Order: sequence, then C-alpha cells, then structure tokens
Amino acid sequence: MIAIAKLSKILTSGRRPLVILDGIDLSIPRGQCAAIVGASGSGKSTLLGLMAGLDAPTAGSIRIAGEEITTLSEDQLAVLRGRKIGFVFQSYQLIPTLTAEENVLLPHELLGLDAGAGRTRARTLLDQVGLAERLDHYPVQLSGGEQQRVALARAFMTAPPLLLADEPTGNLDSATGAHILQLLLEMNRNAGATLVLVTHDTELARQADRIIRLHDGRIAEDTLQPASARA
Ligand SMILES: Nc1ncnc2c1ncn2[C@@H]1O[C@H](COP(=O)(O)OP(=O)(O)OP(=O)(O)O)[C@@H](O)[C@H]1O
Ligand SMILES: [Mg+2]
Repeated sequence: MIAIAKLSKILTSGRRPLVILDGIDLSIPRGQCAAIVGASGSGKSTLLGLMAGLDAPTAGSIRIAGEEITTLSEDQLAVLRGRKIGFVFQSYQLIPTLTAEENVLLPHELLGLDAGAGRTRARTLLDQVGLAERLDHYPVQLSGGEQQRVALARAFMTAPPLLLADEPTGNLDSATGAHILQLLLEMNRNAGATLVLVTHDTELARQADRIIRLHDGRIAEDTLQPASARA
C-alpha cells in the first residue's frame, strides 16, 4: 500500500540545513497496522504528512497504492486524499464554523456523494466515538478529547483504504483511548484497510502488527510483532 524509498526532508530556512528525515526506506503492505514510535522531534509527524502528500520531500519516492505521489499536482493530491486517505492530525484541524456532524460529513460532501446516506453514516460514527449527544456542537464547545474523537469519525467517514493517524489517542483518558484504538483496529481489520499510527503510548503500539521506531530522522528499529503478543 505504501512504498517509500530514499526519502529525505531537509529544511534550509534556518542558518544551517536541518535534516528532519534522512534516507527512509519503508514498505507497508495492504491491511497492515503499523505503529510509528520515537522521541519527540524524531520526524514521526513529518513522515506521516509526507505519506499523505501534505508536504513535499527534499528527495526520494513515495508510492501510495502504486501511484508515485511526489510528482502529483495539488489538485491531483486532493483527489487522491479524498478517495484513498483518511488522516487524523495531531492538532485536530476541525473547521470551527461547522458543527461536529458537519465536520464529519465534509469528506463525504467533497466527494459529491449522496447527502442523506452521508448524514446517517456521520451520526453512526459520532455515536461510535461516544458523541451522539454532541452532533450540533461547534469545536469550541467541545473538549480537546471530544474534538479528537470528531476528527477520528471524520477520518472514518469515507472508509478510506489508508488511514494515517498522528497521536489519535493523545488527548484521551486511557479508557476512551483504548476504545478509540479498538475502533481504529476494527476498521483496519474488517475493511482490510491499512493503518499507520503515530503514538507515544507503548501499550498502544503493542497492539499493532508492526512497530517502526524513528531516531533522528532514520528508522532505528522495525519489528514485526507475533499475533500472540497483541491484545
Ligand atoms: N516547518 C518546520 N520548520 C522548522 N522545523 C521543523 C518544521 N517542521 C518540523 N520541524 C522540525 O522537524 C523535527 C521533526 O518534527 P516532527 O513534527 O516530525 O516530530 P515528531 O516526531 O512528530 O515529534 P512529536 O512527538 O513531538 O510530535 C523537529 O525537530 C521539528 O522541530
Ligand atoms: Mg508529531
């Protein structure tokens, strides 16, 4: 599903070039759930953003479902994201002028799909993340954890074959976090979707099929976990 080769990201805006990602080679097969872990600043969010085509690399190749994305135009990237990629950001990126329900519906509407069916699905998803009572609330009226759950429901909305999630449970208490992770894994396994999850939580990472550890912009460790080790 994802094939990355010799990927690097170097920032040259400061006084000296800053190497954020340094020659990453990584393949993630369809259906896999991979957890990316590593210290703050090791490049996890940068790598995830590149996978979504939200940022351009300095060098290297990224193929998503066979398609080289580093040479696509903004418009082509927007189409690819709409059809194939669900993204949960570390900062939730909800639209402040839209209610919870409208935020969740948005990716569906952007694809020009039937509004009625979309509304039903949006409500079901918000119910699954425990926000059935909050459909008409705006992001400012929701706590950080509630906003994060809206962002998760939004990412699920179009049932994308690839879900990229940056600290999706970072602002949730452990019980809610475990529940949300269960939802993520269920979608990953039932729909045969591929899930790439950035997390600080080692308990959470242990439930993934694979753990990729970044250190200073390089892959320091890449471990497949036996099914018996997972919860
Ligand atoms: N636009 C930018 N300008 C300058 N430095 C940046 C920029 N974006 C990222 N960085 C730097 O790149 C490094 C990697 O950042 P990144 O956000 O990928 O880390 P991370 O592993 O996700 O960390 P965290 O766990 O804190 O979220 C950091 O040192 C960060 O300061
Ligand atoms: Mg980050």
